[in-house]
Amino acid sequence: MAATPATHQVALAFEDGVTRFINCREDQSVADASYRSRINIPVDCSDGACGTCKAFCESGDYDRGSYIADALADDEADAGYLLACQAKPRTDLVVQIPTTSAVAKTAAATFAGRVTGLDRLSPTTVRLAVEIDDRDKLAFLPGQYVNIAVPGTDITRSYSFSSAPDDKELSFLIKLSPGGVMSEWLEHRAQVGDEVAFTGPHGSFFLRESDAPLLLLAGGTGLAPILSILRTLRAQGSSRTVHLVYGATTDDDVVELDTVRELAAATGLSWDYCVADPATSAPNQGYVTSLFGPEHLHDGTGAVYLCGPPPMVEAVRGDLRERGLDPVGFYYEKFALAAVPDTGAGAGDPGEQAEPEPAAAVPPVPAGAGDERPGAVAAQQSSAQPSSPSSRREGADALLTLGGREGHALLGQPLTRFGEPEPLHAGAPASAGSGEPEYAILGQRVFAPSPGEPRALDDDEPLLVAPEGARSVQSMPVLPASDIDPLVATGGTRATVSEDGYEIGEEHPDIHSSDAIFDAREALELGALELVLGRLSSRDVAGYRLLAEATVPYVDRGAQRFTDAEAYTETNAAFHDYLFTRTRNTHLLRAYQALGVKGAMSETLRSAVWCHPDCAQDHLDIVDAIEAGDRTRARELISSHAENSKATMRRAMRDAARARRPRFVTPGRYDGLVVLVTGAAQGIGEAVARRVGAEGGSLVLADRSDQVTALAGDLAADDVPAEAVTADLEHWEGAESVVAAALQRYGRVDVAIHTVGGTIWAKPFEHYPPEQIRAEIDRSLWPTLWSCRAVAPHMVEQGAGTILNVSSVATRGLHRVPYAAAKGGVNAITSALAMELAPHGVRVLATAPGGTEAPPRRIPRGPAPESQQEQDWYSTIVEQTTESSLMKRYGTLDEQAAAITFLASPEASYITGTVLPVAGGDQG
Ligand code: FES
Repeated sequence: MAATPATHQVALAFEDGVTRFINCREDQSVADASYRSRINIPVDCSDGACGTCKAFCESGDYDRGSYIADALADDEADAGYLLACQAKPRTDLVVQIPTTSAVAKTAAATFAGRVTGLDRLSPTTVRLAVEIDDRDKLAFLPGQYVNIAVPGTDITRSYSFSSAPDDKELSFLIKLSPGGVMSEWLEHRAQVGDEVAFTGPHGSFFLRESDAPLLLLAGGTGLAPILSILRTLRAQGSSRTVHLVYGATTDDDVVELDTVRELAAATGLSWDYCVADPATSAPNQGYVTSLFGPEHLHDGTGAVYLCGPPPMVEAVRGDLRERGLDPVGFYYEKFALAAVPDTGAGAGDPGEQAEPEPAAAVPPVPAGAGDERPGAVAAQQSSAQPSSPSSRREGADALLTLGGREGHALLGQPLTRFGEPEPLHAGAPASAGSGEPEYAILGQRVFAPSPGEPRALDDDEPLLVAPEGARSVQSMPVLPASDIDPLVATGGTRATVSEDGYEIGEEHPDIHSSDAIFDAREALELGALELVLGRLSSRDVAGYRLLAEATVPYVDRGAQRFTDAEAYTETNAAFHDYLFTRTRNTHLLRAYQALGVKGAMSETLRSAVWCHPDCAQDHLDIVDAIEAGDRTRARELISSHAENSKATMRRAMRDAARARRPRFVTPGRYDGLVVLVTGAAQGIGEAVARRVGAEGGSLVLADRSDQVTALAGDLAADDVPAEAVTADLEHWEGAESVVAAALQRYGRVDVAIHTVGGTIWAKPFEHYPPEQIRAEIDRSLWPTLWSCRAVAPHMVEQGAGTILNVSSVATRGLHRVPYAAAKGGVNAITSALAMELAPHGVRVLATAPGGTEAPPRRIPRGPAPESQQEQDWYSTIVEQTTESSLMKRYGTLDEQAAAITFLASPEASYITGTVLPVAGGDQG
């Protein structure tokens, strides 16, 4: 195992008295580690040439790195100055950073302007138009929103743009609410010419670049971002197929129909609208779900964009699921009334609805199951607005033919409880077995953070992931629930929720497949590119390049292979994070993180060798293109990089699948036999299980890790009968439960193979504290002893059976005395038990593996060696193991499985009581 460089803590002391702590490895520069923690300290050349990153080191020892005297003079270096882009810590450091913490952070931009239009579109809705002075500095994506400061108050409200990103005048749709501060201002004080200010843009709800047909669903003033999307499509001359359904609560809430007609004429979109109020004069009385059908999703190739209140989002999600409609993407933004920020003195506007109103265009939660309201979903034919009579006709037909089912689905089915929505599609990944409660974000399960997860340290930076209590999505840190304003009190959330109550999310039917994740990342990055292009400072670019360069050492371009896939995954994640942080948009970063790219890469690339040769070079080229302001080139590179990433992941998955197949197989050797394998989740146990399965055995797979469930599923896909049992074999009850499960499933156990145990620590005996000695014995002796005890009575009763224990040649090795004692005990169990059970027709054997090459363990046995001394002790084991082998090499999992499956099979029927070293000649 390659030694991991030691990590030190670096305190970054800013001029304003703020201190930030980062973890920095000995092979990492202080600047590199800072940027990976999203702390943007001053850098420029990143090469030791300009001196921009010069900082005073108050304490600690470090490697100065290489630089020129112009950047850092000798006397400065002697006085304690360092170049952050070059200096690498040898100890913990305290470094004075010559800037303020605010400069090193990122915050949403603020824009000021004046009201240019106040149009009362209906009794309940106002169109607010604003022009700002520095319009060219504001870039936003169609669908995004800003937080507008209500003039004369210190309260902000969130509104999506209804204008397109290139429109000079910005516009918003605002629903008036009695007593609301924004409503009060609009109705009583606002004048054209008034000054207004807002921050933003915010949100990850925006139109992704794609040719996919669009189904746009708008509830109430949720029409605003949809109008922005439509205006953008018109400006682009897009030929995308689009269907819009707009729903409102009452006729008074229906606005902008002329605008929609105009856009329909220009873009060819089909559309329809409905009003929930039974007294409506609209052509359709009912809900948006009644006005779209499978035809609007075009055989699953269409994407849904939905902006509406929470019940509407959940109703649509449930409706899609119920009807078996699978959009290629489901993007939504919902506004929660309960989370309207309570920032004003006295919080006098609890009822103000920013957008859209909660009752718009969604069915009410029924008073009782099965409660149907006649006419609620009846599409009324009328001569009114739709621009596409054919699509409207189809929608109406669908409704009429669905009849009761549709009505029941809408009215009889309780809406999904908010905060615990079902995923749109099944297929969440298997649990990591952490034992922690799981949460779902964007359809992905959330696990407890993995050890060693880099932690963001800037606890007051809204863009940063909170350091404590953070959870992770497949090792990706996400905000802990406590940092997300809960919309309502629930046990978890599945989407990103801003401080102002917006919840934004996206779901993809096949988001768990690698390609879909990278497609989603590409779409987000293309959006982020539009926000940052031409707006990055030279420091931003320098930091971006620093992160790009950090990925380069981990790819051997000529050999097309990773030099260190894990390090590449880490540095690659930091590189991709950065673009999102520079958008100054919290949601974009969260949306990217919630895709779980890093987690997917960590899982898939853990034993990967091949890498697309351009993967790291792409990063450098992307930075160059963005620095040059070359949009076309940057877009091409982002897209080609996504393809290269997908190719790398696909190859890794293919190679891993191939590697999992047993190299040697004796067909039919285990036909008709029930084989129990303990410690089956990984390593030798997994290899044995796969081989036994390939040779006709029926399996019981036991492990403390839930990964045995995934293995059982994997084998079942190849028609191998396999029962997974999770149990703690360090205790009698666990061992007993495994045998009980085997007997329940198959009625017998013919072969029990115990591959449990493993070294936790490596050190000279005198350095083992008592508790570690006990833990080693618990881990490597008791599971075999209990497991033999649990299965022996059954085998005695049936008068036949084989027990195969896995010991170790470490019984004669360095720095593992407690483990050696445990494995010596396994040898003793084997020989003594063989004597006792032979008269009953039961054989008992063991193999003693030597050093064995295996993929990195998904569940480490113990903490990785950290200090230099621990690493040296570990290295001694590796050297001694190799030296002791006459063949001077480690074995393979296939070689271990071959010996085990032979000895445990009927072929070895005249062998018992034997401990066979499988160690290249090392007899142990
Ligand atoms: S010397 Fe230029 S950034 Fe460090």
